[in-house]
Amino acid sequence: MIPESFKQDLLNRADMVELVSRYVQLKKAGANYLGLCPFHSEKSPSFTVSPAKQFYHCFGCGAHGNAIGFLMSYSSLGYVDAIKDLASSLGMQVPEAVPRSPAEAVRRERETDLYALMETAMDHYRAELRKSPRAIDYLKGRGLSGEIAARYRIGYAPDDWQGLRAAFGRYEEPGLVECGLVIANEGKRYDRFRDRIMFPITNARGAVIGFGGRVIGEGEPKYLNSPETPLFEKGREVYGLVQAREAIQRARKVLIVEGYMDVVALAQHGIGYAVATLGTATTPVHVSKLLRLADEIVFCFDGDGAGRKAAWRALEVSLPLAVDNKPIRFLFLPKEHDPDSCVRAEGSEAFEQRVRGAVPLSGFLVSELRAATDLASAEGRSQFMVAARGHLQKLTAPALKLQITKEVAELAQLTREEAEQILGTAAEPRAYARPAPPRQQFAAPSTLEWKLLTCVAAHPVLARGLELGVLDPALPETQVLAELAHWIAGLGAADTAMSALLIENFQGRSEAELLFNAQAAAADARLADEDLARQFDQIQVRLRLARRREALQDMQKRLAAGHLSRDEFAEYGRELAEVKNMELSLRSES
Ligand code: UTP
Ligand code: MN
Repeated sequence: MIPESFKQDLLNRADMVELVSRYVQLKKAGANYLGLCPFHSEKSPSFTVSPAKQFYHCFGCGAHGNAIGFLMSYSSLGYVDAIKDLASSLGMQVPEAVPRSPAEAVRRERETDLYALMETAMDHYRAELRKSPRAIDYLKGRGLSGEIAARYRIGYAPDDWQGLRAAFGRYEEPGLVECGLVIANEGKRYDRFRDRIMFPITNARGAVIGFGGRVIGEGEPKYLNSPETPLFEKGREVYGLVQAREAIQRARKVLIVEGYMDVVALAQHGIGYAVATLGTATTPVHVSKLLRLADEIVFCFDGDGAGRKAAWRALEVSLPLAVDNKPIRFLFLPKEHDPDSCVRAEGSEAFEQRVRGAVPLSGFLVSELRAATDLASAEGRSQFMVAARGHLQKLTAPALKLQITKEVAELAQLTREEAEQILGTAAEPRAYARPAPPRQQFAAPSTLEWKLLTCVAAHPVLARGLELGVLDPALPETQVLAELAHWIAGLGAADTAMSALLIENFQGRSEAELLFNAQAAAADARLADEDLARQFDQIQVRLRLARRREALQDMQKRLAAGHLSRDEFAEYGRELAEVKNMELSLRSES
């Protein structure tokens, strides 16, 4: 669906080293970069990233791919999302996709329609806010300026059963029900949101996908939210992301709070890097989404029991997603406060001070475990270890895991080795959050064509020099090589990230298995491009030679049968000399 030319452009511009470095600590090692594989657990690094080839390869588990593949595996993203992610990190806009099938086209058009309806509704609510002194007073009373209300595109739904009639030509439009703005019940239709302050919820692109509506003053429910619709899935979205994006980049961190009003009030006080979950507990999607945007996550919860419970849940969700270079911390506010009241009471300086003092994940984890057991007795310490085990096994960030293990060991009066025994983290680290696909057993063919393929797969520019005529046409390797020759002929001079492009182009095609195994085999052999080029030339000479030998044998048969003419006989002599020559030069080279 995404144009090929765009993918090529994207892969040409992407920098694998920079991309991977956001998640994995890399060190330069020769022409490549080396680090601990994020796809399996290991102590010494076998994960390589090649800046020249723009791919990654793990000698340990065989994980292998380009920038798009890395994002897909690492962040558990779908193909299209990975491309979007990569594009946005490079400041590129994914061009509008061309619909695939008529059904797809209908669905898309429908969705586009729903987005448009939501946008219209938002404009309507905003216009209504300007007309309602009561709603304006309420927002002012909560300390919000017109500027912030505009920035968060806050509106007001008037106290009217069919207020949206004024905004839409056709109130009967089924899309209004589908996107949750209108409720249809026993033949009657009425607005879902009435007499409420309206907070539009947008997706990462800024399109309105839902609303949260607050009663003015007291009333039940305090907040009414859009239902789940084709546009809106609560656990995947956060409130205020579009408005926060720049501030997150500047502050290098993101603050996750619970309420719409918290986000808006913090922004009012100049703390722009806050977003809110939408009345749901923290989900893995929230965490992985925000970890990609920020270098640090600070969860902010109320200081009461409910807040600590919600924080614990956020911790559990975060464990498998935590990475060593991106701390996750927890901020607990005093019992009487939520972020909104806290920043208003204490000011932004004091609030930011609190954010800086937030407890790291390790500290929160260990202190909660400690609080639940009595470390003065052997039984208590054993209980403590068992409780710790469940959590530490979920944690994949190696350095952090080691640190917490040491801390836990000390508290339980054990050596690190003893602790690792009990925690089950020493011998066989099995609890991978992101399992690598098991390394496929692949029986490599023993043909020269296969060897040639490994060279070309690892150093694609060699495909330009392929002599297809000397290859055995019956072999599957030959088919793949022919496809490669065809593919490379279509590339331009600007396409520098050839290995990455190759992976992309052959993804999901019948040639993919042979080709990717060939690429992995070459990477396993750790050959430099010059070696590959030399091998390539030699193999082609040997193939050329093999073909000539066959021709020669043919002639010999006819000679034995007395079928050769004088001219053919002379040709046979020349051919024989040539073959001998080639054999000699090959021998002297190798
Ligand atoms: P809170 O009750 O903490 O509200 O709910 P708040 O954000 O402090 O709001 P104010 O200050 O009283 O205006 C936190 C979040 O939980 C969800 C909303 O997303 C809200 O922002 N919530 C709460 C609901 O969805 N429905 C409710 O009835 C209450
Ligand atoms: Mn509040």
